[in-house]
Formats: sequence, C-alpha cells, structure tokens
Amino acid sequence: MSHVKQEKWSSGTAFLLAAIGSAVGLGNIYRFPYVVGENGGGAFVLVYLAVVIVFGIPLVMTELTIGRRRQVPPITAYVQLSEGKKSQSFWRLAGFSSVLTPLGILGFYFVIAGWTLNYVYSILTGQLNNLVEGQTQQVFNDMMESPATLIFWMTLSVLITGFIISRGIKAGLEKAVNILMPMLFMILVLLVGYSAFNGGMAETFEFMFTPDFEKINMKTLLEATGQAFFSLSLGSATMLVYGSYLPKEVSIPKMACGVAFADTFVALISGFAIFPIIFTNGLPLDSGPNLVFVTLPVIFDQMPFGQVFGILFFLLLAFAAITSTISLYEPAVSNLEERGIFSRKKASMVVGGGLWCLAGLSALSMNVLSDWHPVGFNETVAGMNIMDLLEYLSANGMMLVNGLLAAIFLGWIVNRSESLEELGLGDGKLYKFWRFIIKYVVPPVAGYLIIDFIGYGFI
Ligand code: TRP
Repeated sequence: MSHVKQEKWSSGTAFLLAAIGSAVGLGNIYRFPYVVGENGGGAFVLVYLAVVIVFGIPLVMTELTIGRRRQVPPITAYVQLSEGKKSQSFWRLAGFSSVLTPLGILGFYFVIAGWTLNYVYSILTGQLNNLVEGQTQQVFNDMMESPATLIFWMTLSVLITGFIISRGIKAGLEKAVNILMPMLFMILVLLVGYSAFNGGMAETFEFMFTPDFEKINMKTLLEATGQAFFSLSLGSATMLVYGSYLPKEVSIPKMACGVAFADTFVALISGFAIFPIIFTNGLPLDSGPNLVFVTLPVIFDQMPFGQVFGILFFLLLAFAAITSTISLYEPAVSNLEERGIFSRKKASMVVGGGLWCLAGLSALSMNVLSDWHPVGFNETVAGMNIMDLLEYLSANGMMLVNGLLAAIFLGWIVNRSESLEELGLGDGKLYKFWRFIIKYVVPPVAGYLIIDFIGYGFI
C-alpha cells in the first residue's frame, strides 16, 4: 500500500520539540488566559489540571500509539490495526474524520494566525502608538472589516506553513521547530520578567491558584475538557501522524508526559505574562477574545518599552501559531503522499490551495459574507458565520468524537498485545491504569460531552 518510505524524526528530542510546538499554540497564549478570566480563575485552573492528568496524558499516549504501531499515516493506521475485524470499514471512516478535523480547524486558525502577523507589523510601523481605550477596538474592527487585510495576512500564514511542510520532516518541520521553539521560550521568559517588574504578581498568584470551589460546576468541566483537548492537539490526526514518525525505541509514555507538562506550563506562564499587566492597570478580566487584541495593545502603548514588548508578544503568538499550523496541515499531506499520486510538494500545494479557499471564506465571513449563515439546524448554530461554525463543529464537536473513537479503538477493538508492546510499560499497574482510563473513563465522559454538544443546553 505504501509507496513512499516515511521519513522519521531524527531523535526523541526532535519529536518532543515538534509535539510541544504543536501543543503550544494560540490555545495556550491567546485562549487559555481569557477562558481562565471568564471562568473565575483558580477554580478553572484546578479543574483544567485534573483533566490534563486524568484524560489528557492517557489520550496523548493512545493517539501516539495508534500512529506509531504500524508507522503509517492515520487512515492506514486505523485500517491496518482493525485488519480482520467486521468493523474495519467504520474505522477507515474514523481515520478519515481524524484527518478532516484539523483541516476544519485550520479554516479559522489560519485567519487568527494572520491577525498576529498583522499586529506585529502594525506595532512595528507605529500604527498602535498613542492610542486610548476604544481606539484599539477601532483598529481591531477595521482589520475585521477589511477583506484585503485579513486575506493578505492569512495568505502569508498559509504560505509559510505550506513552505515548511513541502520540505519534509527533517528539512522542514524539524528545522522550523528548532528555530522557532527556543525563540518562543526566550520571548516568554522575557515577557514574564517584564510583567513581574511592573507589579501585579501577587494578585495573579492569588487569582490563578486560589480556587473558589463554589464556582466549579459541569460547565467548568465542559470548558476545561474542550480547552485541554484543543491545547494538547487531541482528537485529530495530529498526534497520530507525529507518532508515526517517532522512532520505535523512544518511550511513548515519557513523551506524552513531556508534551502535557510543557503545554500546561506554557499555558500557566502565559497567564503570568498577561494577568499582572491587567491587574496593575485595573482592567476587567473577562473581556474574552478581546483580551489580547484589544486590551493588551492599549497597555503596551503606555508602558515603558511597551512597543518593544508588544512586538515581542505578538511575535510569540505568531511563532506559537505556526508550529501548530504545521501539525494541523501535515496529516492530510502525509496521507496524500502515501497514496503515491502526489509528491510531497504537490500534495502540500493541493492541500494549501484548499485550505486557502476555506480560510478565505472565514475571513470574508466577518465582513462581506457576515449575513450569510450557512446552516441553521439548531438555535446554537443558526446565527453563526462560517468562521464561528468551523470552530464550533471542528474544535468543539469533531475533536471530541475523534478522541472518543481513538479511545474505543485502542481500548476495545485493537488486540491488547499491540498497545501492551508499543507502550513498553510492561503488564503492570501503570499499563492497567492507562487501559482502565481509556476503556471505562474516557468513553462515558466524552460521550456525555458529545450528547451535550448535540443537544446543547443539556447542562
Ligand atoms: N494545540 C494547538 C493550540 O493550542 C492547536 C492544535 C494543533 C490543535 N494541532 C491540533 C488542536 C490538533 C486540535 C487538534 O493552539
């Protein structure tokens, strides 16, 4: 079946850097802080940490195992591991769905990645200087209302990602993360230092780590699980594909813990870069998505060296976004290349072309097409434009479905000996604990969340 010999990561460390690059993205730096803000701080952080440990790490292990077991692209992995089972054609579909989901995510992610590039440019050229409150809102609205601006920067992010992908695993992905990840960590450390210097650290500690237990409810769990899935790049073919390039001698459980730890660490640290600035300036915490693109620019403008740090901040976001977009783009390319119809270069171009059209629709959905609400099968989606819809269906719905399917597949369908051997934990307590979680804990919880997703307002 396979026409092309798959490239591999050159080492466990190379994989780890790439997988952390995938996990650390807009989800950590842009989304995590505002979700924490909206959900009351410490209570959310606590539930989030629990979700990462209980479902997150076992699921990362599960998806890496499905990917590495036969060292083939995601759809083939599902097909080969269900060889001889009656349900094989269903599992092919599951593989297909896991490859489609990241493309749906990219349909909106590329647009936001474009915003970050645009902001780097805007600060660099002084367009965000000397603004007062309200004016940054205007700058943001102007961007949203300009199809040309949105499409220009979105196109740039598609081109950068496509270029990296077309060069392959070692010369493309590995090289990119080798450059971008160290810069990302350096900028993050600088920003936290800068924030600490300007005060507000004590309040941030208190806000993030003093849980108000009364604020914990089903909605917190729902939000935390969604956030953890997205942040850990679960419920899609990303981890399957990155796992398939992982050399056999590297320990999957160790890698999974490393990725989860680094991802969570960066999310928390991002809180420490942003919240102190918010507290010292007496700004509201629950400004939602506006936090980063509307609230922060006002403050950067007023702080000493704010312009420099503003540029660094949006560069950080851009780097984090690019190392994630490559991981969302790779699964489809890996599958196409395997079929032998396209070379990697052609496959990157075909996928990139399709994604450009999809992200283009997203960009237009905030201006020219803002009155177009493509589907209206229920109240929740009736008023949505294309960008919101893509996010809702792929990042909220399909990710949960794919995660549930991966857990059922490895827990209930694939022979036990396959995961036993691949995880290399021996047949002891650790392996049994992992298996228990993916057989009996993940399916009911994910199933419940999916029912809630379909039925909306269930909780
Ligand atoms: N984890 C990334 C973030 O936090 C986004 C991402 C990359 C992703 N690959 C994924 C999300 C696969 C879901 C599935 O921004």
